[in-house]
Amino acid sequence: MKKLTLSGLNDISEILIDEKIIDNVAGLCLDVFSPSKVHIVTDTNVAPLYLENIEKQFSIPVTHSILPAGEEYKRLETINTIYTDLINADITRKDLIIALGGGVIGDMTGFAAATFLRGVSLCQIPTTLLAQVDSSVGGKTAVDMPQGKNLVGAFYQPRLVLIDPYVLKSLPEHIFIDGMAEVVKYGCIQNADILDMVSKPDYKDNISNIIYECVKIKRDVVEVDEHDTGLRMILNFGHTIGHAIEKLGDYTKFSHGNAVSMGMIAAMKLSDAIGNDNSLTAYLSGILNSIGLPTSLPYEKEDIFNALLSDKKKMGDTMNFILVRTMGKAEIEKIEIDRLHKLIKAI
Ligand code: GLY
Repeated sequence: MKKLTLSGLNDISEILIDEKIIDNVAGLCLDVFSPSKVHIVTDTNVAPLYLENIEKQFSIPVTHSILPAGEEYKRLETINTIYTDLINADITRKDLIIALGGGVIGDMTGFAAATFLRGVSLCQIPTTLLAQVDSSVGGKTAVDMPQGKNLVGAFYQPRLVLIDPYVLKSLPEHIFIDGMAEVVKYGCIQNADILDMVSKPDYKDNISNIIYECVKIKRDVVEVDEHDTGLRMILNFGHTIGHAIEKLGDYTKFSHGNAVSMGMIAAMKLSDAIGNDNSLTAYLSGILNSIGLPTSLPYEKEDIFNALLSDKKKMGDTMNFILVRTMGKAEIEKIEIDRLHKLIKAI
């Protein structure tokens, strides 16, 4: 079993990575928490696979919420359903809430745990690659509003994150590949060895080590900047243009990982337009394509520029843009909007 500890501003999170850890959830939870009751939040895709196994492991009362699957349900109405289930289950501040699922379940359960009774202990059990390497770690929780994604939320660290790479075997291939965009992102921003690891044809056999390297980077970054005011921005490499692509596709046409993959190549081309070595762009494109991720922009550059003007990273006349000029090293560059417009036209 691999173990990482994240020392946050208020709490310490333990992150454990092991194949079949899902068979020992109760034991590991009771090492960290002392609840009288447990409430598990999951969705209709994940419940049939793992819910019964986990519930049976506990000798204390366990209740659950099974939510409809999909980003379109990541909204306040669904949080109300969780609150109602928590009240009906008589969950108190001393009890435990478990998020069992992908990023949407993790974000919503985290938000419910942060706000119900002003905070109930939380364990994250991410079941997609994207959630394992990114959203389950670091304490960002949120729901979407009609006006945009993740507009309402809180920082709330899970005290325990249980990552089981074995469960990825039951993921549809396209969902696994989607998560690989975030893996490649970590290689670009902090550790180019990850890019070597994923370039090997049999990289999936090494997925536990790859996940560990990614989570280690996320842990290091969050420890420095938990509330996302500086360094944590590097985790957004590829996301500025990626979010614009997701928005132009009404959040249904392109999945997050696919949009981030296109966004990373656009960000590399933007660096090239500033005068950097464009062989790195070709190298990264080759890796993404070999994994099965897209790299060409699906919209006109002018439309992308207009969509990214509403991004949270825009501050007045400038925007913080994450550039990678050397593999394994991200830089935060403040770019004036007029200049950004010209650079985007040039990519
Ligand atoms: N997913 C980016 C972050 O956690 O900051």
